[in-house]
Amino acid sequence: MKFDQELKARLLEAQHIVVFTGAGVSKESGIPTFRDRATGLWEKYDAKALSTAGSFKQNPDLVWGWYEWMRATVMASDPNPAHTVIAKMARHVPRLTVITQNVDDLHERAGSEAVFHLHGSLFRPYCFACKRAHILVPGIPAGVSDKTHIKPPKCAHCGGWIRPGVVWFGENLPAGVWRESADAVANCDVMFSIGTSADVIPAASLPVDAAARGAYVVQVNPMVTPLDDLAQLNLRGNAGVVLPALYEAVWRV
Ligand code: OAD
Repeated sequence: MKFDQELKARLLEAQHIVVFTGAGVSKESGIPTFRDRATGLWEKYDAKALSTAGSFKQNPDLVWGWYEWMRATVMASDPNPAHTVIAKMARHVPRLTVITQNVDDLHERAGSEAVFHLHGSLFRPYCFACKRAHILVPGIPAGVSDKTHIKPPKCAHCGGWIRPGVVWFGENLPAGVWRESADAVANCDVMFSIGTSADVIPAASLPVDAAARGAYVVQVNPMVTPLDDLAQLNLRGNAGVVLPALYEAVWRV
């Protein structure tokens, strides 16, 4: 795989790289994306029945069971070469910030530090009523499937239902995480947008902001997205293939 000289120079000179990721970065770990044709979660499951506060109120067992299946899927998966390269890149630049829309923990397990989770985390459930954090029972949830209904645990403080720690449709992003992510984007020289359809606002506005501020925006995706026109460079392919090749070309030659 060949990479152009400008990309190499930009990466070698960068003081701060932001890596913005979506579900595509975890696809090669066996975790489905949301919108890929045929295999995407929102192609198969009804997002409105699973991913809103109203749906949880109406059917907590269905929603908790589905997210426990997701958590079990993630826990049975491993980081792939894309996650590993992103973690390794941080050793070569003064500052690297990972901002992810993913609710899995694969960036952390690959060794990335201080990952900003814009859409929350499957591993940080909290009380639907009083919002206090809930500690999950260790281990992979046993015997779950995408159809299993499971009663959510009860909050130890107020007895309310515990909800998945993810941001649902119609909810605000965690304010501190959003502020820090926006600050990082405002102060980067290179921004990667990897494995996201750039369909969900406000997350998808981050690469747009980076480009507007003069950062060099590089997209890694096998498909066309709304970011194609604003990215200075579109690397068309799977992240688990493109990123290791890029790493070799820039830092290992
Ligand atoms: P999407 O499912 O919308 O987009 C996944 C993107 O990954 C697509 O553009 C694919 O072409 C690309 N892709 C697929 N395989 C890839 C690979 N191996 N390497 C690189 N790219 C690949 O997922 P997101 O953009 O992350 O929200 O979706 C954004 C949000 O929508 C999610 O965070 C989720 C969902 O509703 C919440 O959970 C709150």
